[in-house]
This record gives sequence, C-alpha cells and structure tokens, in this order.
Amino acid sequence: MVLFVETVGVVGAGTMGAQIAEVFALNGKNVVLRDIEDRFVQGGLQKVRRSLNDLAAFHENRAASEIRAAESKLGIQLTPEQKAAAEKKVRPTYSRQRVDEAFARIQGTTSLHDLKACEFVVEAIVEDLNVKGKLFAELNGICGPRTVFASNTSALPISKMAEMSGRPQRFLGTHFFNPPTTLPLVEIIKGDRTDAEAVDDVMNLFSSMRNHRYPMMPVQVKECPGFLVNRILGAMLEEAYRCLEEGVAPARDIDNAMKAGAGFPMGPLELTDLIGLDVAKHVADHVKSAMKTYPAVQEPKVLDKMVAEGRLGRKTGKGFYDY
Ligand SMILES: NC(=O)c1ccc[n+]([C@@H]2O[C@H](COP(=O)([O-])OP(=O)(O)OC[C@H]3O[C@@H](n4cnc5c(N)ncnc54)[C@H](O)[C@@H]3O)[C@@H](O)[C@H]2O)c1
Repeated sequence: MVLFVETVGVVGAGTMGAQIAEVFALNGKNVVLRDIEDRFVQGGLQKVRRSLNDLAAFHENRAASEIRAAESKLGIQLTPEQKAAAEKKVRPTYSRQRVDEAFARIQGTTSLHDLKACEFVVEAIVEDLNVKGKLFAELNGICGPRTVFASNTSALPISKMAEMSGRPQRFLGTHFFNPPTTLPLVEIIKGDRTDAEAVDDVMNLFSSMRNHRYPMMPVQVKECPGFLVNRILGAMLEEAYRCLEEGVAPARDIDNAMKAGAGFPMGPLELTDLIGLDVAKHVADHVKSAMKTYPAVQEPKVLDKMVAEGRLGRKTGKGFYDY
C-alpha cells in the first residue's frame, strides 16, 4: 500500500528544520513544525517567512531583470510589445499568493502530540544519538503505525537510531544538504531492518517535489560512515589541507586551481570556510574514526579491473558509463 503523505512533521526549527518545513509546504504538504521552546518555533517560522518573501520577490522581478539584461547585452531598448512578450514568457513560478499559501500550511508547535496525524516525520534536532533516540521512542507512542520516521543526521548510525525508535521497519535517514531550499540532493539511507516499501514511499515522495530551484533528487545510499557526499568530499578536503601544509601551493592558488582545472564551483578551502571549520572537523573526525572499523575494501580495485578489461572511458565507448 502506497503511503499518501498529506501532513509532514518536522522536529527542530533550526537551520535545517525550518528550511525542510518550507520545502514541504511549497510542495503542498501541511507541515507541523515542532521545537522545544516557542521562541525557537517563532524563530524558525520567521526564517521561513523571510525566505518565502525573497522567493516571491525574485520571481516578481524576474521578467524586469531579464529585460534589463537583454537590453544591456544587445545595447538596444525593447519595444513595449517585446517587453510584454518577455513578461508573458517569464511568468513567476512562485507568486506572492503561492508562497503565502505555503506559509499558511505550516503550523508551529512545542507539543509533540501535534504530530499525531503526520504520515511522515523528519527529525532535524541536535546531533546527539541519545537525544534523537529518545525523541523517536516518544514519537512512536504518538504517531500511527504506518508513519515513516526519518532522521536528518549528518553522521549518526541510522540502524541504531531505528532500533531506539521502536519501529525499525519504518525508519530511515533523509540527509538533506544545506541549504535544502536550493540544494536538491537528499541521501536516503536504509537501516538494517527498514522495509523496502518504506524506502520506495520516501523515494516517491521526494521524486514528486522541488525546492526553490530544482526538482528534489533523492539518492539511495548504503549506510556507511559519512554516507556518500561527506565521505567523498571529506577525502578531497583532507588532501587539500595536506597540500596547504606541505606548501604545495598557498590557499588562494589551491582554490583557484580546483576551480579552473577541475571545474569545481568552489575551492576546497573556500568550501571549508562556508561549512565552518569546527563543523568540517567534527564530520572529518567522525568519518575517519568510523572508517577504521568499517569492513570496506580499503584499496579500491575498480580502476585496475576496468583498465584490464579495456573499459577506459569515453575513448573506448565504455567506462563507468556506456557512450
Ligand atoms: N546545518 C547543516 O549544514 C546540516 C546539514 C545536514 C544535516 N544537518 C543535521 O541536521 C540536524 C539539525 O542541524 P541544524 O544545523 O539545523 O541544527 P540547529 O542547531 O540549527 O537546530 C536544531 C534545533 O533543534 C531544536 N531541538 C533540540 N532538541 C530538540 C527536541 N528534543 N525536540 C525538538 N527540537 C529540538 C533546537 O532548539 C534547535 O532549534 C543535525 O542532526 C545536523 O547534523 C545539519
């Protein structure tokens, strides 16, 4: 039976929770946004209101700014007819009315019991296994048996949290990226005992949604330290720090080189500044210590194997993809 999600619970109205609530509301879901104190709930709602106002303003001004850009690029003035045609073409996707309706769909609360009717609950509270586990156990006594629980943890073990929740079959990780209003990726992490049906339900849910800019992109990821993006990113960032320490190049050149030579939108050291060095260190320390006991193959063999098979990439028509 497919899970029909009408109301989503979001627990934690901080940086991530407020934006996750906003994305669901923009996609027509009713949202119950819960935090422990009313001032945090109100803070989260204010952030959503500001973000939605900016979104509506951007869309209202889009036609005018595209007209200005076209006029300055071509060095001409568009006729009133051309302007009207451009305005018709660039209709606001998110109108003022649409964002107001989205905002009205979010109900703030400090009571966990208000999440009773939710079919899907995403948790985005403090990164502490015991606090999260306790919250889910409490929710287990409140929500209906088919409600799917999801944690937005950056690094904590999903299977352990699933057991603590008391409903491991309907528990998974949904790892959003900051800011979820513009970054569309959600890593979907199945625990040891998560039902395939719950994973399908959540994949379907996200596949029908979009954020301010893009369709949401749910990607299923096996449970492992750092999940997918932080694990790969962590290895790359560490190499950048090593190059800096070895004096291979100064910070600015490392960033410029990765942007100009590897097509990165942002250099590894600029990215670390954006994430916050304390957060980057926390994630890196966690992934490194967890990887020590992770039973994965430490030296990847995939390149040796594929080269031996003649699968050299685009030039042979076959690599990781077929061309
Ligand atoms: N900030 C990021 O870039 C980012 C990215 C991906 C994942 N995450 C993860 O998302 C989660 C939340 O991170 P954040 O940056 O939004 O944190 P935050 O500190 O901005 O917000 C956390 C909120 O949770 C509330 N809270 C704490 N305990 C609660 C409880 N028992 N019930 C309800 N609310 C409670 C706090 O009052 C706070 O408002 C963490 O697990 C974090 O690892 C964060």
